[in-house]
Amino acid sequence: MLTREQQVELLKCRENVAYFIDTYCWIENKTSREWVRFRLWPDQVSTLQSLQDHQLSIVLKARQLGLTWLLVCYGLWMMLFRPGTGVLLFSRRDDEAAELLDRVRQVHLRLPAFLRAKVGTDNDHELQLVKLDSRAQSFPTTKHSGRSYTATLAVVDEADFIRWLRQLLTAVKPTIDAGGQLVLLSTADKEDPSSEFKRLWNQAVAGENNYCPVFLPWSARPDRDMVWYERQKADYSLDDLYQEYPATPEEALASRTSSKRFQPDWLSACRGEGKPLAGVGPALPGLVVWEVPRRGGQYLVSADPAEGNPSSDPSPAVVFDALTWGQVAGLYGNFEPDVLGGYLVELAEWYNEAVICVERNNHGHAVHVAIRNRGGEDLVYLNPHDNKDGWLSNAKMKTLATDVTAETLRDGGCIIQDDATINELAIFEAGTLKAPAGMTDDRAMAIINGLAALRWPSLRHRGTGESRIVEPEDIIDERETRGW
Ligand SMILES: Nc1ncnc2c1ncn2[C@@H]1O[C@H](COP(=O)(O)OP(=O)(O)OP(=O)(O)O)[C@@H](O)[C@H]1O
Ligand SMILES: [Mg+2]
Repeated sequence: MLTREQQVELLKCRENVAYFIDTYCWIENKTSREWVRFRLWPDQVSTLQSLQDHQLSIVLKARQLGLTWLLVCYGLWMMLFRPGTGVLLFSRRDDEAAELLDRVRQVHLRLPAFLRAKVGTDNDHELQLVKLDSRAQSFPTTKHSGRSYTATLAVVDEADFIRWLRQLLTAVKPTIDAGGQLVLLSTADKEDPSSEFKRLWNQAVAGENNYCPVFLPWSARPDRDMVWYERQKADYSLDDLYQEYPATPEEALASRTSSKRFQPDWLSACRGEGKPLAGVGPALPGLVVWEVPRRGGQYLVSADPAEGNPSSDPSPAVVFDALTWGQVAGLYGNFEPDVLGGYLVELAEWYNEAVICVERNNHGHAVHVAIRNRGGEDLVYLNPHDNKDGWLSNAKMKTLATDVTAETLRDGGCIIQDDATINELAIFEAGTLKAPAGMTDDRAMAIINGLAALRWPSLRHRGTGESRIVEPEDIIDERETRGW
């Protein structure tokens, strides 16, 4: 039998989750392994209120703000005071998921007896409070979280580090539609600037979805001050500081300054020493030649036609020696597609009937037409992926081409002669596979697509590249290992 006092407390807890946590929950300091009272910090109180007020919440946070404990205690409160509650706890790995559930178990164990409930099933993945018909379950997140779940509260911890977040949310969605709550919780993962979590966050902030965004800066913990922050600053790189202890959402979401796809030292190692040769080669505007064609040499011309306005945006082309993968020439200018096509044929003919690889983008088709009109039909590179004209420039093929370029540069496997191209490669972003906003990457793309075309020659140009030739099946393997 409960005393009168206990009955009052029970009621107070039922009415007020913050009171329940602040008065009765104990949490473990994972560093010192000490159990302490969970006296809520002001930001924890306001976060709790926001979570209660919204069906969908997305929390972007600095590290170590007690948010995992807060969600664990909130889940436990629902299990105790809302009979029939189902709590789903998602984490990246199975051991992390089990650890989350163990937090629920441990907080429950430390409640005074009058608040505790009878435990039924009790294992790594489930904790059941039998009489209340409530239970918490924990799951790791895998690519195949394809099942559907039912719950009153679903919590996805470290959500930005979950690769299959989109698939997971699809599976959890029916729960929400039936009136449940969903909370996504994470620090930002700087390795993935275009993640699903960040997409949802940005939409939430723009009011384009139904998530309520909550940002918690490093200072959301009362025991942190500027002295503390300065100390972190000294210990971390700026990127790491912004990831772990952002002051603003922008700091949290900014891509790494070191998020460049190609490292500076790789580029230095591949920088050519050649001097441009004057007065050689066909008379084309913007042509720079570093090496004239060798007798018997095989070459590849790679061009990136302007995506925008061809007369004002650059449409560079580079020429590679297919044996050494060294750059021997560059054609730099703003050319209309039909003009560019003609120039490419002239250049290719001079370089011993070189293969011409043109990116298959919106102007690429027009360039291919021009190449054919000028009799360059047999020179056109056919993508082994589909045996059609040019390097296919969809997201997957771009990733593939960029990976090949990264491997080649890292191994010092090519030579790039002009500095403007080196610069474009140096700022090429890993997250977006593009230049940063407002900057160009046309020269970089001509190199990237060119190296990909050298790595995977057209079936009809299989003689090109000699020792570096790989079977075209390779591209199929790539596709399979990447799950395309
Ligand atoms: N109100 C509080 N009073 C005392 N200690 C607290 C409080 N809130 C959190 N802590 C301590 O902060 C630490 C971090 O808690 P928790 O793991 O829940 O935070 P988190 O925000 O999920 O951190 P992470 O970024 O590491 O996931 C724990 O050691 C916990 O004991
Ligand atoms: Mg946490």
